[in-house]
Amino acid sequence: MATTYEPILLRNVGVPNSWDIDVAIAHGDYQALPRALREYTPEQIVELVKNSGLRGRGGAGAPTGMKWGFVPRGRREKYLLVNADESEPGTFSNRAIIENDPHQLIEGIVISAYALEIPTTIIYLRGEFALGYRRLAHALRQAYERGYVGKNILGSGFDTDIIIFRGAGAYICGEETALIESLEGNRPMPRPRPPFPAAQGVYNLPTNVQNVETICNIPLLINKGLEWYTSIGTPPRNTGPKIYCVSGHVRRPGNKELPLNTTLRELIYEHSGGMIDDRPVKAVIPGGASAAMLPGDNLDITMDFDTLAKLGTMLGSGGVIVMNDRTCIPCAVRRIEEFYNHESCGKCTPCREGTMWMVKLLRRITEGDADSDDIDELDRVAKTIGFGPPNITLCALGDASTSCVTSGIRLFREEFEYHARTGRCMVERVLVPT
Ligand SMILES: Cc1cc2nc3c(=O)[nH]c(=O)nc-3n(C[C@H](O)[C@H](O)[C@H](O)COP(=O)(O)O)c2cc1C
Ligand code: SF4
Repeated sequence: MATTYEPILLRNVGVPNSWDIDVAIAHGDYQALPRALREYTPEQIVELVKNSGLRGRGGAGAPTGMKWGFVPRGRREKYLLVNADESEPGTFSNRAIIENDPHQLIEGIVISAYALEIPTTIIYLRGEFALGYRRLAHALRQAYERGYVGKNILGSGFDTDIIIFRGAGAYICGEETALIESLEGNRPMPRPRPPFPAAQGVYNLPTNVQNVETICNIPLLINKGLEWYTSIGTPPRNTGPKIYCVSGHVRRPGNKELPLNTTLRELIYEHSGGMIDDRPVKAVIPGGASAAMLPGDNLDITMDFDTLAKLGTMLGSGGVIVMNDRTCIPCAVRRIEEFYNHESCGKCTPCREGTMWMVKLLRRITEGDADSDDIDELDRVAKTIGFGPPNITLCALGDASTSCVTSGIRLFREEFEYHARTGRCMVERVLVPT
């Protein structure tokens, strides 16, 4: 049951000076690393990760073990690239780990580097994370001094280095190939695939890109074992803990670490204090702004990868945005679309022009200078980008920009019609909780 779960990934949030190595050790960090180096071969850790069912927490939910299987074996030049760019609207779990428990991330990186025989890891850290950078850099210095990173780690003969690279302040830098371009000093524009980063990533060398939360699951697997891990959630494809970032019209927004079989109802009413003023849930975006909306009467679904995919949306980054009955959906969709239009890198025509076109139509609709044909046109533009021929855009931002539009129109068409005619919200609008 979700209610009896004790947070592990977030266990050190709120512990005074938790980013300092002595405090971190006293609260459970660096227990898995000596065990991993002593008791496991690199191949055994890769096997453990494959059997765990761990799926990437960065957005796409790719099986981590499968990705690790693509990394060429042997000690050679290759990279682990930790994606700490966290910019998906509604998402703040990586930040909580980096600021409160950077040693957990460092430990996860060293075990992963050992398993994949990787000499260098680069952490691509969101540029705006000033506090996170200071704490992570401090933690990394301490980890080097204590022999957890660097040469001959804990006397094992294994060497690995970690570098922190501060990001360039754009949402697209979180997309793995744009991130690599940015790291190499270029404009962050996604690369065509193939080749995939696993074959040709940073400086054209094999690169395993992994999200912060994904990497933090690795020490957990060593410490708690496979049986425990697969019992958290719904095996075999939806296992382990997940940090849900709950925001919007709930009484207690924030990061909620829970098993992957938690229902939306439990998440809102047991773990987030319920709805402000006890108003009803109108809609929920379950996986960051890139995910399609769900109607508010769908509260008994489990918040896992496969259940949400079957409903035409996604778990994505785990950013759960809860909206009450006073939310104006056309206004919310316009706000989200303005974000995507601003953040499109402009490399592909459908995304560059399409996001601009959707914003223009949404402005006309919300300002009351439109009619039903404009709503049809908006839907058609979104579907051309989102459901058009495969690979119509180079990266997933194009698709992502359409989710709120198509789901918003499908679920709340009458609000778009009303706004287009009158320029007014059908509901009494409250976008920011008071
Ligand atoms: C526009 C865009 C932004 C993204 N931003 C992030 C991000 O901030 N953090 C992240 O881990 N993944 C992000 N991703 C997904 C990454 O490309 C990649 O799939 C992920 O880092 C892989 O790690 P994982 O397998 O551990 O999830 C983004 C993808 C897209 C298309
Ligand atoms: S889909 Fe958009 S963000 Fe992605 S490469 Fe194309 S233009 Fe850039």
